[in-house]
Amino acid sequence: MNILVIGGGGREHAIIRALRKNPQVETVWALPGNGGIARDAICVNIGAKDIEGIVSFASSHPVDYAVVAPDDPLALGCVDALEAAGIPCFGPRKNAAVIEGSKVFAKDLMKKYGIPTAAYQVFDDPAAALRYLETSPLPAVVKADGLALGKGVLICPTREEAFAAVRAIMEDKQFGDSGNRIVIEEFLQGPEVSVLSFTDGETVVPMVSSMDHKRAGDGDTGLNTGGMGTVAPNPCYTPEVAARCMEEIFLPTIRAMKAEGRPFRGCLYFGLMITSAGPKVIEYNCRFGDPETQVVLPLLESDLLTVMQAVSSGRLAETEVRFSNRHACCVVLASRGYPEHYEKGFEITVPPEVWPHTYVAGAAEKDGKLLTSGGRVLGVTAVADSLEEAVREAYALAEKVTFENKYLRHDIGQRAMAFR
Ligand code: AMP
Ligand code: GLY
Repeated sequence: MNILVIGGGGREHAIIRALRKNPQVETVWALPGNGGIARDAICVNIGAKDIEGIVSFASSHPVDYAVVAPDDPLALGCVDALEAAGIPCFGPRKNAAVIEGSKVFAKDLMKKYGIPTAAYQVFDDPAAALRYLETSPLPAVVKADGLALGKGVLICPTREEAFAAVRAIMEDKQFGDSGNRIVIEEFLQGPEVSVLSFTDGETVVPMVSSMDHKRAGDGDTGLNTGGMGTVAPNPCYTPEVAARCMEEIFLPTIRAMKAEGRPFRGCLYFGLMITSAGPKVIEYNCRFGDPETQVVLPLLESDLLTVMQAVSSGRLAETEVRFSNRHACCVVLASRGYPEHYEKGFEITVPPEVWPHTYVAGAAEKDGKLLTSGGRVLGVTAVADSLEEAVREAYALAEKVTFENKYLRHDIGQRAMAFR
């Protein structure tokens, strides 16, 4: 079995490690991968958005199965293109990936099918948006419609900030064409939970829940990042909350997508807020989360390839998906200055005993050395019998990895521990 994985971050490294546990897996190619992934897969320098390049590579190599992990290629129709070339894939087609690619689509879907989410208005005219904000409730949440590298959401406590957000997104085009339309929505409060799920369009199987830590600084301060660490399971996601989410959110979403003629096959990520009025959807992602995957897949006891193939072929209902009841913590090591300006090119040392716990996000290989090449450099994940132990062990691993300008949060998991 030869597998192609599209993408090149910590999430893809975790997916590749999990796929490799299956002894039938022979060659794994990563497009483009990175210097760390190159130790577990053959990396080929074809970008994740180069759909033509990906299909041409897949057609000229003995690829049995492909996993398309990032949002961009999914939104561009990478799965459709690979399937047209006869290659079975894990990931939604373009018409289903729109659930992440357009916030307006997602909000309208939820409204039409009664799925709980923040109340909202859509605007394609900046003047109308500014008028609305003169009397709207505060804080206002302003979101660019399209993909914006996770940065297209602005929480505005004052009217002035809300006006500035609309101008930045719609007039200055800070996120390009993603900001041609915006959503302005109600500010929700409560703990956040990430739930990744496997779905074949009919059946939905939630994975173990997780908690991301999006802000750059300790105590949830500083700028939003791609994610500085995760824990799983998330203690806010009690069995009662899980049952409500299944009834009110997960099943209705899968049925809605099917009814719209856009069956979703792949990993559907539910970003949830547990409000006093019950769980509500903050966002959908059409893919595995990063760094959620780095705590969720290490807890998966079933074979990932078997589950993925069941998803692609509509056999998920007959397939066992089992998670361990242990705990996982991932601590991300970044370059000092991330998510703004940072230097790169520093040598990374990972002791051999830490390597199996390491998921590399931004590193390049040069003359046998691993050099920092991104804002988020790598994540280290520990699995243990308790959350406390998993956090302690993840930090012990993180300490053993060295590179100049290494930056990490010191409080991953603290919020989860305080909740219980
Ligand atoms: P997103 O890019 O959609 O993941 O949003 C980034 C973050 O903004 C989320 O993780 C939430 O913490 C926050 N957020 C988004 N929408 C809302 C909302 N309606 N109310 C409160 N916080 C929100
Ligand atoms: N960690 C959030 C995401 O993957 O979008």
